Amino acid sequence: PAALAVDMMRPAFHYTPRFGWVNDPNGLVYADGEWHLFYQADYETTLHGNMSWGHAVSTDLVHWQELGVAISYDQHEQIFSGSAVVDKDCTSGLCAKAGEPVMIAIYTSYDQVPDPNSPLDDQGHSTNRHFQSQHIASSTDRGRTWTKYAHNPVLDKKMYEFRDPKVSRRGDHWLMLVQKSEEHVLQFYKSSDLIKWGDGKGGDGPAGEFTGLGATGGVWECPDMFELPVDGDAKNTKWVLIVNINPGSRFGWGSAAQFFIGQFDGDTFHADGDYSWLDWGADNYATITWDSAPNGEVVAIGWMSNWQYTQVTPASTWRNAFTVPRLLELVTIDGKVRVVQNPVKNIDSLRDLSNAVHQSNLAVANDYTEPAIRGRALDIVVEFDAGSAAEFGVKVYQGEHQETLIGYDKAKGQVFIDRRISGTVNFDALFPDRHSADLPLVGNKLKLRILVDHGSVEVFANRGEVAITDVIFPDPFKDGVSFYALNGTATVVSVDVYPMKTIHGL
Ligand code: FRU
Repeated sequence: PAALAVDMMRPAFHYTPRFGWVNDPNGLVYADGEWHLFYQADYETTLHGNMSWGHAVSTDLVHWQELGVAISYDQHEQIFSGSAVVDKDCTSGLCAKAGEPVMIAIYTSYDQVPDPNSPLDDQGHSTNRHFQSQHIASSTDRGRTWTKYAHNPVLDKKMYEFRDPKVSRRGDHWLMLVQKSEEHVLQFYKSSDLIKWGDGKGGDGPAGEFTGLGATGGVWECPDMFELPVDGDAKNTKWVLIVNINPGSRFGWGSAAQFFIGQFDGDTFHADGDYSWLDWGADNYATITWDSAPNGEVVAIGWMSNWQYTQVTPASTWRNAFTVPRLLELVTIDGKVRVVQNPVKNIDSLRDLSNAVHQSNLAVANDYTEPAIRGRALDIVVEFDAGSAAEFGVKVYQGEHQETLIGYDKAKGQVFIDRRISGTVNFDALFPDRHSADLPLVGNKLKLRILVDHGSVEVFANRGEVAITDVIFPDPFKDGVSFYALNGTATVVSVDVYPMKTIHGL
């Protein structure tokens, strides 16, 4: 029955809205023992429409309580992406009582009414462009209810594409990263009180800008920047700058998160070298990190979809999920500082240990093995010895005419997800494909952690220096798991397959 199939497609352990559409994570902030996940939401349809901020909270980054609309669109504005901070000392003056903490959301307000003076197109018709400016809202009840600031906007350049403010506390002031999206200029601003960003008085106003580097095949969106120790050494830190881009991913289409490693001088960011991609799959976008994490750790989450096809994917009463929260670290590998990402530790608590399957020293030499293991929501930890095989890997959601491969191509030296026959793929010609990332074997061996859920596959390879995230739309009844090798023999040195418990009552 349709209703059953629909519920079976809801991820077991990835956050999804009960109803409606979601895109970017917004306002990620940790406060009073709660991880806040705000996000772009349309509660009325399953398409990107009138955007508000939805809200969910978690105490463990695993189980989420959906709290509904936090900041709503109205006849004047839509609430586009942005960030949230706890204004501990009430610099904004928006707290309930002097000196008390207040949560401040900084978001892009998208004018509902197009600019009547929009430029004209070739035919002399208005292009109907909408102004975007930065607004704030405050909450004195832990993000449950919000009041829009009476004197918004707080930063307005009368621009059509100026968005996604990411604010954090830096020393004695607030720092904002915000995109002049069409120009590919990331602008830094400073403020003493979260309200004055532009007047240039008292240090408030524009600081540096970051431009001229990176991928520029689309608009720049959703910036983020954070400092991390290299190899855990607090005396040796580097900064990571994230610049999401849409379109203009490495595939030449669709949205993706690029990043740079470098230094922040207090006013602007200086890249050490070239940019790279945070994820080598197609479905990890608008990736940003939590402000004020309890131990200074950097935890990121992304929207698990792609603007290329997100409005035409199979969906019922809700659409889109987020990645699992991921811990980001800087690790030197083969002499190079790399961003390494892995699922936060608490994800392990969902493993159903009593139904886990463990195997070791399994020789694999077949293109097809009858799956001995089944499951729709799994955490797979596997180590392969490449042996003589030209290609080897794991198949999930395997059944007649259906499989998603997580494999390794030895000649190319690449790990991949292949979703060409992963289920429903025909809604966009660019969807069915293989997404590969360079990764050398270590002593002829490869380690993979694979999180499989009803609508997605997330792969973390070796130490996490490669992550690949793809959504899939398989027939949920074809849920086999098997190992394969082509043109030779590979060995599964060891594998643990953990069924995952669901985080909701379905
Ligand atoms: C990125 C984005 C943001 C914008 C939001 C609107 O996916 O386009 O730049 O603020 O989505 O929903």
